[in-house]
Amino acid sequence: MPTVPSSATDAGGVEIDYGAPESAVAALKDLVDAALAELHLPDAPEALYEPVRYVLAGQGKRLRPVFLLLAADAFGTPPASALPAALAVEVFHNFTLVHDDIMDHADTRRGRPTVHVRWDTDTAILCGDYLMALSYDLLARSEAQRLPRLMRSFSEMVTHLCEGQTLDKAFETDEAVTVEQYLHMIDRKTGALLRTVLELGGLLGSATDAQLDALRRVGASAGRAFQIQDDLLDLIADGERWGKTVGGDLIEGKKTFLLLQALERADGAERAWFARVVEDRGLSPDEIPEARERMDRLGVLDAARTAVARYSATAMSALDTLPEHPALQTLRWLIRRLQARHH
Ligand code: IPE
Ligand code: IPE
Ligand code: MG
Ligand code: MG
Ligand code: MG
Repeated sequence: MPTVPSSATDAGGVEIDYGAPESAVAALKDLVDAALAELHLPDAPEALYEPVRYVLAGQGKRLRPVFLLLAADAFGTPPASALPAALAVEVFHNFTLVHDDIMDHADTRRGRPTVHVRWDTDTAILCGDYLMALSYDLLARSEAQRLPRLMRSFSEMVTHLCEGQTLDKAFETDEAVTVEQYLHMIDRKTGALLRTVLELGGLLGSATDAQLDALRRVGASAGRAFQIQDDLLDLIADGERWGKTVGGDLIEGKKTFLLLQALERADGAERAWFARVVEDRGLSPDEIPEARERMDRLGVLDAARTAVARYSATAMSALDTLPEHPALQTLRWLIRRLQARHH
């Protein structure tokens, strides 16, 4: 396993200036990017480590490690001490993306070809497997006395994420998925990780059980907002900034928030049009603009925006129960800011 850069274990480390939330978030993201770039990965076999390097160098938002570092700092553990766990969650997230792209037949990620397209599926499976192992290795470099609880929380998250991804695939061929089932599915495939990164931050710091519970609630609601917005952007984003195939979910026949809302709202010929997406297990790429227009007419896009705002507000309410701290003000700013994201 690669060595962790010295900056990840330095007792001193970086001081974050929370005076301006935007620059505080940028500083934390830079810290994560720099530490990822400094991971000393082996050279051979190149067929494994070249794609691993490729994935870790991709332009991700680094949202999960930033969430973790903010939660840890709010409860007394500075970024330098929380950095191994922060790297662990980002590396784990990257693993999920590599395997998710195989399952979703996605060609593009972060504006570049996906691993299974640039190399092949076997390479992508192994690249993901390695990243999963690396994530555990990084987490294990956290303070020894905290490890049992960190490990338990992390493994529970992995289990939930596998369950969520399984349901996401199963729903592709299930003709009667409800919004409630959808929410259960996204709470696992996406919410579990956001919930856990805040919990890990609290566990690294000195959060009480009640505070850990509040942190989990923040993450769970932020996770719902984040995935519904991902579903929305998948249809309406500008392709270049989005970095993934616009309309990819409809092409794959995914039961997204948008498709479920369209099926619920439409009737007559309009409903038949959307029912065909389900029956045919997806749309062809040239039908995506029409799907966008139909959804807009039905108010589906606004419904998604409203849901994102509602779950973000729930996350804020849970945040309000935690003690005031500049790092939590920054987290509040970040959750608000995510609602205006384009990628
Ligand atoms: C993509 O996550 C996967 C989802 C949960 C929707 P991000 O949108 O955070 O992806 P990156 O890391 O910034 O590329
Ligand atoms: C996100 O699902 C969940 C995970 C990657 C685990 P998506 O399939 O919607 O994510 P993107 O849109 O490909 O990033
Ligand atoms: Mg996907
Ligand atoms: Mg997926
Ligand atoms: Mg998506």
